Amino acid sequence: MQQPRGEFSGKVGFLMAATGSAVGLGNIWSFPTQAASNGGGAFLLAYLILAFLLAYPALMAELVIGRHARANIVTALDGLGKSPLTRRIGRAVGYYGVLVAALILSFYAIVAGWMLGELGKPLAQQLGLDGLSAWLTGSSISRNLILCALFSLSTIAIIARGVEKGIEVWSTRLMPMLLLILLGLIVYVMRQPGATEGLAVYLIPDFRQLTDPGLLLSAMGQAFFSLSLGVGTMLIYGSYLRKADNLPRMGAAVTLLDGSIAFIAGLLILPAMYVAQAQGIAIYGDNGELLAGPGLIFQVLPALFSTMGSAGAWLAMAFFTLMSIAALTSSISMLEAPVSVAVERTTLTRPRAALLLGGIIFAGSSVLVFYQAQLFEAVIALTTVYSQPLMGIALCVFVGWIMHRDQLLQELASGHEDIEGSLFWKIWPFYVRVICPLLILLALMQSLR
Ligand code: TRP
Repeated sequence: MQQPRGEFSGKVGFLMAATGSAVGLGNIWSFPTQAASNGGGAFLLAYLILAFLLAYPALMAELVIGRHARANIVTALDGLGKSPLTRRIGRAVGYYGVLVAALILSFYAIVAGWMLGELGKPLAQQLGLDGLSAWLTGSSISRNLILCALFSLSTIAIIARGVEKGIEVWSTRLMPMLLLILLGLIVYVMRQPGATEGLAVYLIPDFRQLTDPGLLLSAMGQAFFSLSLGVGTMLIYGSYLRKADNLPRMGAAVTLLDGSIAFIAGLLILPAMYVAQAQGIAIYGDNGELLAGPGLIFQVLPALFSTMGSAGAWLAMAFFTLMSIAALTSSISMLEAPVSVAVERTTLTRPRAALLLGGIIFAGSSVLVFYQAQLFEAVIALTTVYSQPLMGIALCVFVGWIMHRDQLLQELASGHEDIEGSLFWKIWPFYVRVICPLLILLALMQSLR
């Protein structure tokens, strides 16, 4: 039996949930790590340009489809098709999207588990549990599995109940705190020796690096990842949005907030790397590659906190608590993508779907934990660098070529009555139809040369 669909309480509810989804490990773990290994300023510049040029229009495509269809990605794309063939393609694209969401969650939950470990470490130290404290931040398989399981269970528990008010309220209270702690840490780091060198690397782009095809591709993948695109997450959140809300403005707010937090995280991490380097920690190898790889922030931040005396332990705890929460508001949005498909297309109840799919995804995480050396980075590249942009093209094509122009206009006009006179309406429809898919394709093809 169909249950009534959920709906966000209003603009604020949507903004919190969508920003909560967008702001996560992508901003504070992945973005600075990628910037550090791809030429600092050049990466930042490419990222900012691509976020507004490609990711924002693609985000709008998802929000429009979602709110128009009021359904999960599979049902929504199926419903847009006008012939059996396009409907079938729609369903296939939708299923591929939620598969990508599941794969992304399988590595995301592992990294989130590392955050839990860093959070537990100062606690264990205060209690004198040295063995536990070493285990929490070691790289043993048991630690990776158990912490990942803990995180996955929390994600499942929240999605099983529906995205409750609780998490919305939590995110609004805690996100500003995350920002405050970030800013406070930046002020501290900037006064340490070496920091300005890192700041210069981050803020002054070396324009020659912008022609590096690998750089553009990574920046595009990062922009799509950070805005949670291409897997049905933003689409399903759009479907819970009220008809009275102004879509282009909502999308722009989410893009801006997400980009700003990534930018600010870079202001902390890159200078902190150079501070650590000045203290004798090796950050780059002989040929300029990042030694710690995905572990970068777990190497640099704890080193920083340990220079701060006893206040460092409290700050570390606060910082990693907030990171864990930021990761949780993102991971629930990832699990919501496949769960919404299961709930709306089968007879499974929401709690069962959440448990079943969350369990399967955890099995995926376990495989990644056991074969981390072989699989971890490959799965990240397959999903974020290739699949998300490809899905972005597909969704732009659905909006641009399969949805009728008047359907589109009608959807956008609800919540924004003078849409026809707006700059958005003059540019965006043609842009998602032609320019956006072409640009994404071009960037993807660069990497094949
Ligand atoms: N955007 C989130 C972050 O930056 C991660 C995320 C949430 C995500 N939902 C997603 C990434 C869907 C890809 C697809 O951490």
